[in-house]
Amino acid sequence: MSTAIQIAYLIASILFITGIKLLSKTKDARRGNMLSAIGMLIAIIATLLTINVLSLVEIAVCMLIGGAIGLFYATKVAMTKIPEMVALFNGFGGLASFAVALSDYFLKSNTSLESLDAVNLTSIILSVLIGGVTFTGSLIAYLKLDGKVSGQPITFSGQHLLNLVLLIAFVATSVLVFLNPGNLVFIGALIGISLLLGVLTVIPIGGADMPVVISLLNSYSGMAACATGFILNNNVLIVAGSLVGASGIILTQIMCKAMNRSLTNVLLGGFGQTVTAAAGDGPAIVVKEIGVEETAMLFDSASSVLVVPGYGMAVAQAQHVIRELMEQCEKRNIDFRFAIHPVAGRMPGHMNVLLAEANISYDKLIEMESINDDFPNTDLVFVVGANDVVNPAARTNPQSPIYGMPILNADKARTVIVSKRSMGKGYAGIENELFGYPNCLMLFGDAKQTITKVVGEMKEMS
Ligand code: TAP
Repeated sequence: MSTAIQIAYLIASILFITGIKLLSKTKDARRGNMLSAIGMLIAIIATLLTINVLSLVEIAVCMLIGGAIGLFYATKVAMTKIPEMVALFNGFGGLASFAVALSDYFLKSNTSLESLDAVNLTSIILSVLIGGVTFTGSLIAYLKLDGKVSGQPITFSGQHLLNLVLLIAFVATSVLVFLNPGNLVFIGALIGISLLLGVLTVIPIGGADMPVVISLLNSYSGMAACATGFILNNNVLIVAGSLVGASGIILTQIMCKAMNRSLTNVLLGGFGQTVTAAAGDGPAIVVKEIGVEETAMLFDSASSVLVVPGYGMAVAQAQHVIRELMEQCEKRNIDFRFAIHPVAGRMPGHMNVLLAEANISYDKLIEMESINDDFPNTDLVFVVGANDVVNPAARTNPQSPIYGMPILNADKARTVIVSKRSMGKGYAGIENELFGYPNCLMLFGDAKQTITKVVGEMKEMS
């Protein structure tokens, strides 16, 4: 039986790894997700066969309740609220590892103190630290994203020093736990410090940086699960936890690189404050406006169009009407594609998910590195609710806070039309000189409403 369980765990691990590999290509992502889900099912069934604490009926009841709550929220949540949901998922993942570690500790400290050996205690302490930080940190991230707590960085003097002192206190208390494994006061102190550290490390980070924090907390929840795997002696939990830990940290790095920020810069917080000051009051940008009718005419006469979607497309939920625009263009044999910046929007893959939801085929979405050389040969670039990801200051202005961030070279196209409501700034809080360029025209208004009108005009023309 035990060999069969280990083989099942091995198969599940292979499925997880293959699933993650497939996630790297949009067209294979669904299959990757499915493979990983099958792997998880195999792992759960194999684990259930080894359990003798709860009956199968009790486990089934718990799974049904948990599954129903998950299904309810997953179907109810709006696409723009996914980051909040992921934050909560991470938090509960951390809480689960935290709870399992503590239940193991309390069980053994009551019944067999000698079984709390060095390996076991190290795993329990790591689970409590990482799980606790992940739980409260993720709750703060959720509250900030949801607007229930101010998205502004919450800072006070001596904040980083306090975090350092708490971390040192945690290490010192861990030593005391090793010396007195049965002492509940010390383990209680570890619990308190870890929960407090989660809150204190996330409050100084601005709401807009939360996606990076969530990705990092996701990585932490994997590491906590991995430590719990050592406590339970469960190989598949160690493998799955390591995979989540490693992929979360890689994603965090990718996001930081695409924003030209270091992880330390994100974690020390206060990005919004510094940037607003650095943005300064440069000369006012003079823009040229374009109306719906002229926009439709420019589309009608173009032979190639690149759409650059951004956060505003998500806010306006304009993806469906953009598909209609694509259909109108394709009827006219216009080459119509999308240029996707890795951090457009507010979460990884934000644009890909929204455009897929509107049934826009994956092969129309071209990543930044592959599309950037095509802009000079493009007749019309249509920027929909994007701002920072097309700001040429990232290339041209060393004083700009986004200088060095890789951007989409929309400004190099023959004509650029920008759909946004006003001259409002983007996430980085800075002006965009593109809007004043001679080849740039502003189509003001909510993206969904204006594009609907453009599509209407194009239908009338044909
Ligand atoms: P942003 O630079 O944030 O600009 C979005 C623009 O959308 C705003 O200027 C806004 O202008 C416009 N907008 C808002 N609602 C609209 C509506 N209903 N209709 C039309 N336009 C609307 O977006 P971006 O170019 O996608 O850049 C993303 C930014 O987020 C980057 O700076 C990136 O570093 C940051 N970030 C991204 C991530 C991930 S993982 N994606 C994570 C953290 C941070 P108006 O107010 O004038 O309409």
